[in-house]
Amino acid sequence: MRQKLVAGNWKMHGNLVENQALLASLRTQLVGLDGVSCAVFVPAPYLAQTQQMLAGSAIAWGGQNVSEYDKGAYTGETSAAMLLDFACRYVLLGHSERRAIFGETDVVIAVKFVAAQKAGLTPILCVGETLEEREAGRAEAVIARQLDAVLEVAGVDALAKAIVAYEPVWAIGTGKTASPAQAQAVHAFIREKIAQLDVVLAHNLTILYGGSVKANNAVELFGQADIDGGLIGGASLVADDFVAICQAAQSCTVAA
Ligand code: PGA
Repeated sequence: MRQKLVAGNWKMHGNLVENQALLASLRTQLVGLDGVSCAVFVPAPYLAQTQQMLAGSAIAWGGQNVSEYDKGAYTGETSAAMLLDFACRYVLLGHSERRAIFGETDVVIAVKFVAAQKAGLTPILCVGETLEEREAGRAEAVIARQLDAVLEVAGVDALAKAIVAYEPVWAIGTGKTASPAQAQAVHAFIREKIAQLDVVLAHNLTILYGGSVKANNAVELFGQADIDGGLIGGASLVADDFVAICQAAQSCTVAA
């Protein structure tokens, strides 16, 4: 049985004062959740604060992005080694906002994936189709292309130390979540695609769902056979909402 993971993506939100309250509340409340790991992805300037407040807790943390370069004249970038300096376990890669707003291509994301793993970070590779692509019947083709770019550069074995997050772009921040059946279908497609290369690895692969996950839809989503937890945006900024989603994940592990 795969462990569930619930990851909060704060995006570009927060400040020292608000973070202090949010992190303290998460630290107090997210205890004793057997079978569920929890993590927060904070803006890079707040990694030190996050490390200080969560060290020794049950909550892991990570960066929202990483440079494909090790070091050098890359103004504004954050290297994998820098994330590790603040004890990050994970890094998000290929979030649709990085792809759409900052022009990150499949190839750049694949190079970042390799750089992150080489340094010892666990990448959470985000994939997902736009509404237009879904309506054109191209969702699976788009996701396959996004996965293949990483598989070609990193090889299937690299996925043993990575997590995949399916985030339909039309469901992110829109309040319009994929139905559990829609999400499950794509998760099964992803697992099946990887199983063609390595059955055991595919079985063990953690695949998160992201896109308007809230406390009131989390149980139904996380109860699907191939959904191993969630990547949570908006609801991760409210401690009680994020905690409720983590508890929903736990109720699914108990039920399973
Ligand atoms: P949302 O964001 O939960 O606010 O839809 C999810 C994400 O972008 O990771």
